[in-house]
Amino acid sequence: MLNSLSGRFLILTIAFVMLAEVLIFVPSVARFRQDYLRERLERAQIASLVLLADDMISPKLEKELLANAGVYNVALRRDEASELILSSPIPHMVDRTIDLRAQTPLTLMRDALRRLLTGENEIIRVIGRPVRMGGRQIEVTMQTAPLRRAMLDYGLNILLLSAVISAITALLLFLAVRRLMVRPIRSVVGYMQAYAEAPEDARRIIAPGAGVRELREAEEALHDLQTELTGALRQKERLAQLGGAVARISHDLRNILTTAQLFADRMEASQDPGVQRAAPKLVNSISRAVNLCESTLAFGKAEEPAPSLTRVALAEVAEEVFDSERLSAGEAAISYGVDIPAGMVLRADPEQLYRILSNLVRNARQAIGAAGGEGEVVISASEDAREWVIRVADTGPGLPQKAREALFQPFAGTTRRGGSGLGLAIAAELVRGHGGRLELESTGESGTVFAIHLPKGLEGA
Ligand SMILES: Nc1ncnc2c1ncn2[C@@H]1O[C@H](COP(=O)(O)OP(=O)(O)O)[C@@H](O)[C@H]1O
Ligand SMILES: [Mg+2]
Repeated sequence: MLNSLSGRFLILTIAFVMLAEVLIFVPSVARFRQDYLRERLERAQIASLVLLADDMISPKLEKELLANAGVYNVALRRDEASELILSSPIPHMVDRTIDLRAQTPLTLMRDALRRLLTGENEIIRVIGRPVRMGGRQIEVTMQTAPLRRAMLDYGLNILLLSAVISAITALLLFLAVRRLMVRPIRSVVGYMQAYAEAPEDARRIIAPGAGVRELREAEEALHDLQTELTGALRQKERLAQLGGAVARISHDLRNILTTAQLFADRMEASQDPGVQRAAPKLVNSISRAVNLCESTLAFGKAEEPAPSLTRVALAEVAEEVFDSERLSAGEAAISYGVDIPAGMVLRADPEQLYRILSNLVRNARQAIGAAGGEGEVVISASEDAREWVIRVADTGPGLPQKAREALFQPFAGTTRRGGSGLGLAIAAELVRGHGGRLELESTGESGTVFAIHLPKGLEGA
């Protein structure tokens, strides 16, 4: 209830209305006190007018007149000469004099508050102007207990009233918020949940219907998002089916080709010189085709497993990669170099790191070999507080235009006969799995540099 939207509104409304009521409480109590005192003066004025008819009234009548006015004494100055005075004994000395002619809103409020806060019964003298030009000045003496009681009653009434008002306002707001906001939001959330259960189902896409503009916009944004997502999911499904078909074809094709390979191998033993010449080429072509099938199948095995990170000595991995390259390349005029700070250790999956480097180094070696055969491949590394950077640099001819355009896209960028166009895509995916990125840092006639950025902590990811 308390952390629901309408609950919050309920509480805030009550708090604000209460605050507003407190802000008007002091001025209105001050006003009440002023009216009360004025009324006393007025009643006293009327009482004193009896003296105009008869100068000598009986003490009993005088006492009654004063009791009716609620004061001890009255002195009404009509003009310089005449003054009407009624009086009865005061219990003790006057404590305070209040001149109503010289009050400002501030002093009124201050005096009212002081009256509310002082509990004892004081005797005050109140001076004011008589009503209806009844004279120059009127002055009464009275006690404060009845005044304070009336002020307290009045104040309590105000507080009670404000409690009722705030309860009603809050209730109305509560209902309004429920209708205008909570219900539409719930419906949006409901749509989201239903959609999340089966996002391929286009019938579950939200139909915008809210009247409130902001909600309407949210609904429309959600609608667009869901439409797009559902489309993308369908597309993905089609691609997955296609991928499955390609995998099946590759699989069967590989088997067929393996058989063909066996026959081709046999043909090499043939006595016919023509067949003998052609046979190695045939064997080569077939084994390239088998390789293509195999790498397609490997790629089709969906995602690479998440890397299991351990401490890896980079220099060792680099040497391993170079060793296996030297083996498979035969004696080419390619030199391999490492430029790695001694003892540099990074956190990575050693198996995957090996595959990443091996793909990059093999590409470099093949590029140099295709361009004439002499060159150098160097693996270097550096680190800062956030990441390790491993660079694979070669002195080859640089990436062909086609490879640059389809950089890191599977199947697209190959320019080699028998190339699959998967090496860079796989390397990039493996680096991404580490939370890092693979970049083509530079490429040109004098060589190519690929940079692997591996974050040290999660924030680099
Ligand atoms: N170091 C490099 N120097 C020049 N060209 C490169 C280099 N690395 C990759 N390439 C180009 O990028 C293409 C794609 O490489 P890759 O994704 O490994 O696929 P593949 O090696 O199967 O062709 C290669 O065919 C080659 O033309
Ligand atoms: Mg390659």
